[in-house]
Amino acid sequence: MKRDEIISRYSKVFPKAARVTYAPIVGVKAKNAKVWDIEGREYIDFLSDAAVQNVGHNNDRVVKAIKEQTDRLVHFTFIYGFPIEPLLLAEKLVEISPIKSAKVVLGLSGSDANDGAIKFARAYTGRRTLLGYLGSYYGATYGAMSITGLDFEIRALVGELSDIHYIPFPDCYRCPFGQERGKCHFECISYLEYKFEREVYAEGVAALFAEPIQGDAGMIVPPDDYFRKLKKILDEYGILLVVDEVQSGLGRTGKWFAIEHFGVTPDIITIAKPLGGGLPISAIIGRGEIMESLPALGHTFTLSGNPVTSRAALAVIEEIEEKNLLKRAEELGEYTMRRLKKMQKEHELIGDVRGKGLMIGIDLVKNRETKERAFDEAKKVVWRAYELGLILAFLHGNVLRIQPPLTIEKELLDEGLDKLEQAIEDVENGKVDDKVLKIVKGW
Ligand SMILES: Cc1ncc(COP(=O)(O)O)c(C=O)c1O
Repeated sequence: MKRDEIISRYSKVFPKAARVTYAPIVGVKAKNAKVWDIEGREYIDFLSDAAVQNVGHNNDRVVKAIKEQTDRLVHFTFIYGFPIEPLLLAEKLVEISPIKSAKVVLGLSGSDANDGAIKFARAYTGRRTLLGYLGSYYGATYGAMSITGLDFEIRALVGELSDIHYIPFPDCYRCPFGQERGKCHFECISYLEYKFEREVYAEGVAALFAEPIQGDAGMIVPPDDYFRKLKKILDEYGILLVVDEVQSGLGRTGKWFAIEHFGVTPDIITIAKPLGGGLPISAIIGRGEIMESLPALGHTFTLSGNPVTSRAALAVIEEIEEKNLLKRAEELGEYTMRRLKKMQKEHELIGDVRGKGLMIGIDLVKNRETKERAFDEAKKVVWRAYELGLILAFLHGNVLRIQPPLTIEKELLDEGLDKLEQAIEDVENGKVDDKVLKIVKGW
């Protein structure tokens, strides 16, 4: 089959609701941070399948674990029986989690983990109201979609859960309160108190859902003190803190969980994406008493606790531990930030560079003063990068997403950064045709 034929057959069977594309890459093989397409072209992967391949594509340890497990036992229901693999995984997750005496529920995707967290938070507190963040993304199932603060068109079409309110995320580059980084009075925190005075009954709030670093909003990193100040208020009213680590978790930012950068312990953590090394698995890790608040079958799926996906997840965690990938993410992250900050000095298109570890965003702007988002330019950079052999994507329409595997070789990282700079330069010099704007979709 040829690339163009495959791409045209795609649109015949898959509706647009299931996908959002950037470049026409038919991937057929991958290893660590390299991907090959059906025409034999090689790419450096700065996307890691949307922050999935933390330990690299087709990681040897993960592939071996999957093969061994499929030879022995593909599935034995976790709901009725006692397979060993999900037990070992849950025990390991409890061990690496910052939550003391945690219990774990396994699922299949980040979305279902967030849906479960809604149920546990409501059942435990006996309260209905939930707080989410503007700009947040928690997933596509009904509950996760309902707390998501990024896209309101879908829920307008299909309906949503009730009793949900939003607050602005502390975005110091485009502060919703018009303040400047380091010169504000944490208006984002006072706004929560204001909301409790005027709109939301604080003692009726079950939980606040937060991404420690907002991913799909454009890699927004809160100030160091933000979560400490926030948690004080939440504790005052008995509101649980649920952190969504689906994108930021499992080493991506240089810690097991990104919330550990901010000096607070959450009540519930949700993880998915990189957990299975490419296989579908998620987990809700929460304080024991919270996780005991639902009756039997309150949150489970026929295929959750699957032995193969559990073994793959154990291999991912072992790989992070044995290869010291937390440290590596921190070091490579600092190095990448230094190179990107240097690029920022030389390229007007780069308005801001931010992130932690290997979770980095490059905010492209038309004008550094107005910070107007450079939507078309972002599409062109992603296209040019593709032509140069670099897989790249953007978020919020204009923020380039830099999330390579934590295992990427230093030389390959440098090569990828060179290609990225070349792509930016070519777009600045008008070398990329407007016709690509129709091809690159993104979001
Ligand atoms: C922060 C965050 N939470 C939840 C999700 C949803 O995860 P999934 O697509 O596995 O359902 C995503 C996916 O992009 C995400 O980035």
